[in-house]
Amino acid sequence: MAVLEKPFFTQGNLLKNPVALITGANTGIGRHTALKLAKKGYKVFLACRSWDKTQPVLEEINQLEKVKPAEFLELDLADQASIRRCALSFLARQLPLHLLINNAGQAGAKGLTADGFEVAFGVNHLGHFLLTQLLLERLESSAPSRVITVASRAHHFSWGLHWAHLRESTRSFTGIREYANSKLANILFSQHLALMLKDSGVSCYALHPGLVATEIWRHVPRFLQPLLKWRGMLSEEEGAQCTLYCALDAPASESGLYYAKSKIHQPSRLAQSEKMALLLWQKSLEWVNESSRFAKNQD
Ligand SMILES: NC(=O)c1ccc[n+]([C@@H]2O[C@H](COP(=O)([O-])OP(=O)(O)OC[C@H]3O[C@@H](n4cnc5c(N)ncnc54)[C@H](OP(=O)(O)O)[C@@H]3O)[C@@H](O)[C@H]2O)c1
Repeated sequence: MAVLEKPFFTQGNLLKNPVALITGANTGIGRHTALKLAKKGYKVFLACRSWDKTQPVLEEINQLEKVKPAEFLELDLADQASIRRCALSFLARQLPLHLLINNAGQAGAKGLTADGFEVAFGVNHLGHFLLTQLLLERLESSAPSRVITVASRAHHFSWGLHWAHLRESTRSFTGIREYANSKLANILFSQHLALMLKDSGVSCYALHPGLVATEIWRHVPRFLQPLLKWRGMLSEEEGAQCTLYCALDAPASESGLYYAKSKIHQPSRLAQSEKMALLLWQKSLEWVNESSRFAKNQD
């Protein structure tokens, strides 16, 4: 994994007019991340698929004292055309981008995305892969900047990525195996992104937020839901801590690494495979370019 030289600053105390874009910020961990960053002086963009669900969070932020107005960006990660519109809409504002927080996620949903990918993989990995690619130049020109990808300890349950299955509807009954695969992809992506961005001033972190009492399991079969909710789970606010640590305090020298409990953690053996990370990167590029050609032919 990429290890850069020791930094002399952290993100939290350097920037004057910082800007952050957070996906899935209308609820759960993303909502608390957005609130905290707004309180820290960031102008926050909440990239979410529903205006109605996001509006209360915008109001919550915008009524705080001395915050920069938070804004909504429409984003459905299950539809690459929507991701392209979201990125264009952000770029058109001519603002820098210091933090891209790839937070949104689905667990237990079944089916295919609009572009024909298994839905957990398509939303959790490929959607964020495309969004990051589209915003990469802006992140680089705004350096020092960071890309934070909210992965999960669930990646330990992945047996690896089967390329053909990623183009088919969800196979497992609960969707949990596909969720684990998508979270493995999150870590491989962050690791390879850090390698690609070595010496660019853009650092990348993947993390497990802990077991957090959110609605993440809303799509798994109803009878399984109580089994996935434990006593002693973290609150949503506590669940945002590791993301915030990576966004504001983790040393830039730790770019490419995986965090849990705001400390470096060893991900699974598969998640450390540079060969698999490279293959996933190449496949992902091929797949997002394929859908952009498809989109052009539809114009
Ligand atoms: N909770 C945990 O214990 C836990 C553990 C490990 C990792 N994580 C990870 O933490 C991240 C945040 O999850 P959470 O626990 O805060 O769950 P959550 O409360 O369910 O939030 C998930 C967010 O993702 C959004 N989202 C889902 N599909 C989307 C799509 N197609 N396009 C755009 N946004 C979409 C949701 O929007 P809607 O409200 O519109 O559905 C929601 O804003 C996820 O990546 C999850 O995998 C959570």
